[in-house]
Amino acid sequence: MLRSTARRAPLVATCAWILTANTQCAPRVAAPDATPDAGSFVDAHDAFVDDAESNDVVTDVVPERPTYTEHVRPLLARACVQCHVEGELAPMALDRYDRVAPIAATIARATRARTMPPFPVDNSGACNTFRSVVTLTDNEIALLERWHQQGAPEGDPSIAPPQPATPERLRGTVHEIASPVAYTPDRSRPDDYRCFVVDAPIASGPYFVTGFDVLPDQRRQVHHVIVYHPQNDAEATRARALDDAADGPGYTCFGAAGVTASAVAAWAPGGGATHYPSGTGVQLQGGRPLVLQLHYNTMAGVAADRTRVQLEVRTDGVTPGRYIPMVDLALSLPPRTTTATAGATLRLADRTNIRTPLRVLGVFPHMHTLGRTLRLEVVRNDGSRQCIVDVPRWDFHWQRLYFHERPVRLDPTETLDIRCTYDTSSRDTQTVWGEGTADEMCVAGVFVSL
Ligand code: HEC
Repeated sequence: MLRSTARRAPLVATCAWILTANTQCAPRVAAPDATPDAGSFVDAHDAFVDDAESNDVVTDVVPERPTYTEHVRPLLARACVQCHVEGELAPMALDRYDRVAPIAATIARATRARTMPPFPVDNSGACNTFRSVVTLTDNEIALLERWHQQGAPEGDPSIAPPQPATPERLRGTVHEIASPVAYTPDRSRPDDYRCFVVDAPIASGPYFVTGFDVLPDQRRQVHHVIVYHPQNDAEATRARALDDAADGPGYTCFGAAGVTASAVAAWAPGGGATHYPSGTGVQLQGGRPLVLQLHYNTMAGVAADRTRVQLEVRTDGVTPGRYIPMVDLALSLPPRTTTATAGATLRLADRTNIRTPLRVLGVFPHMHTLGRTLRLEVVRNDGSRQCIVDVPRWDFHWQRLYFHERPVRLDPTETLDIRCTYDTSSRDTQTVWGEGTADEMCVAGVFVSL
């Protein structure tokens, strides 16, 4: 029998995202440990030229008479087929005319509603653009709509299909981690969140994770995967204890790892291999076990699963990066409203020993199921604001790490400001911060480097 996710996590577990930033968790954290060794950073501000893939806009003008072969097929190949193909997690394949044409109306509706493709972050350029995020432009959505309205014509099938892009690969030393034995998801719940404690890929000393990939076992069932690094050895021991106390491999977890930890890798289907940008990596402690969180969609099946995660690991030649946790631990949301809010501000110079300017290279936004929007900004010293990430349609099912195509500069004297909104219409009581299914969070793990 599995443990109930509704059980409230002990207080300490509510600090999952905290390094030095929050006093409530301070006793558990040694501040000097949590602060990067500034001297070891490489000054690479000007050298930062990213190898980002572009999110090409397929059309500048919506064609009068769009056809499948000429317009729709390349668009679906870029934005949909990575998930909508035989054997992948999405319900129907979108890789052939005879499969796509009968559901042209559904495709037009899902793209107009912007529920598909499902990445919830704004990638329009209004608040940065992110690597490996596929979004449709207004013109592309209009194209799919027009194609549907005109009866979904095929066009000339002899036109050669475009070459598919070569998928990114991990490089160098790759370590694989997985639960010790296969886990059978719990069919009594539609979503089963399971945490597995796995041995560190490196036995001792500091090391860096510079990239990651996920090899899902039961592809239809695995909805997202997050790898956590416990904050210290005591937290790692607590994770082991949670694992030992639960029946079967792993333990039930929902909003985080169940212990104080920060995310190292976050993957959703279609994500592919991911590299930390431009020679950076996140520093971990050798010998300290990692926590692997798997989200199983049990409606898609409950076959025994042993999903593997690959970590690209290096011990030197890496520009160190770290996550700054932006969190609102005081979060308290009134019930029965569509306009509940949470938020927090952080001036790095006040709460950390960071004294030199940083580059924001990525972000891991996180809320639970009541979350609707999340926005993180820098408030400059002249009062102006610059957006770091904007999530207009939060979806708990599509969590991942987003790396910026262009870094955002952050001075420690400036203030980070996170705002989250929630719909609590379904709740009768106040919702507070926590890891359980009934709790909420307002979090952004901000990945920075010198
Ligand atoms: C990252 C994976 C992924 C990508 C990319 C993706 N889908 Fe989906 N899609 C899914 C999954 C999974 C479902 C099943 C429902 C769910 O989990 O949200 C789905 C469901 C759908 C549905 C049926 C549900 C609905 O909303 O009507 C349609 C239609 C659809 N997708 C169209 C598309 C189109 C068109 C694209 C590209 C423009 C696309 N999808 C891109 C994963 C994806």
